Amino acid sequence: MSTGLPQREPDPQLPARVTIYEVGPRDGLQNEKTVVPTAVKAEFIRRLAAAGLETIETTSFVPPSWVPQLADASELLAELREVGRGPQRPVLVPNERGLDSALAAGVGAVAIFGSATETFARKNLNRTVAESIDMFAPVVHRAKTAGLWVRAYVSMCFGDPWEGPVPVEQVVDVAVRLMDLGADQLSLGDTIGVGTTGHVSRLLEALDARGVGVERIGVHFHDTYGQALANTMTALRHGVRVVDASTGGLGGCPYAKSATGNLATEDLVWALDGAGVHTGVDLAALVETSVWMAGQLGRPSPSRVVRALAGSAG
Ligand code: HMG
Ligand code: MG
Repeated sequence: MSTGLPQREPDPQLPARVTIYEVGPRDGLQNEKTVVPTAVKAEFIRRLAAAGLETIETTSFVPPSWVPQLADASELLAELREVGRGPQRPVLVPNERGLDSALAAGVGAVAIFGSATETFARKNLNRTVAESIDMFAPVVHRAKTAGLWVRAYVSMCFGDPWEGPVPVEQVVDVAVRLMDLGADQLSLGDTIGVGTTGHVSRLLEALDARGVGVERIGVHFHDTYGQALANTMTALRHGVRVVDASTGGLGGCPYAKSATGNLATEDLVWALDGAGVHTGVDLAALVETSVWMAGQLGRPSPSRVVRALAGSAG
């Protein structure tokens, strides 16, 4: 009989606590075919916070023509009030126009999002890699001056659907340039979920050799090939303490069709609970939230843990 929790057997190779950086409301909902009503997004975020998720990326300030699903960013933050603000509620901003809107909405944290490859920079940002870094520079400068926390994503760290393999040195080069702008944290995006464990180790070691240590790194694995949890565990064994995940396994990127959902937050919490790693998240409340959200979206969650626990509860 399932108790709804794994048997706890501490894993001494893992850290005592991990910060889950929840991306469901942003990475998940940016990719839905239907536009989720603002009130439902707000309820989703409130439920995630109530389930114990401290860091929640809420939305993106990008042109509605690029991501219509998140066109209600200002309205959403107004509806969320304090639940949507502060240094643990980042929003994506690509440029100064996005930053202006984010500041007007009262955010306390922003994320810029660069690409390790030229093709994806062009498709996702309508810029070369160099031009996109030029676009981000004033965003980071102004955000830091305003006292905001800043994250820098790098996409296509482990492979690119148009260019194929991406050399580790190329990823490190872009990552270092983004961190040199003054970002507080780097998130390594496996946008299309093709990474494997040795590759994760190699990239983390190469970043460390260039001065970007694990204490400034988060990992962001999409689960297209079922590797996200294994890759995450590898990163944790290297000392990474921040893991991106999406409740229910929602997610993808509208500008990379081969991207599917992120590592499901429930799958991560199950693994970490079992290994005795503190996350602060109530797994049962999270599963309940996923089941509710699946009802809103009209399709079941791809998360194994959600399916197992929702099934065992019924
Ligand atoms: P562009 O078309 O080159 O922009 O797009 P532009 O500067 O030429 O402006 C065009 C129009 O948009 C202008 O309006 C601007 O004012 C307006 P017009 O004069 O024509 O009326 N505009 C804006 N409006 C609202 N908010 C703004 C804004 N900026 C300009 N911020 C741009 C360039 C960077 C804006 C565009 O390419 C863009 O927004 N791209 C973002 C696409 C996106 O959101 N992708 C998904 C997120 S990334 C991701 O999912 C990966 C990640 O999860 C990590 C991983 O998995 O690897 C993070
Ligand atoms: Mg992503």
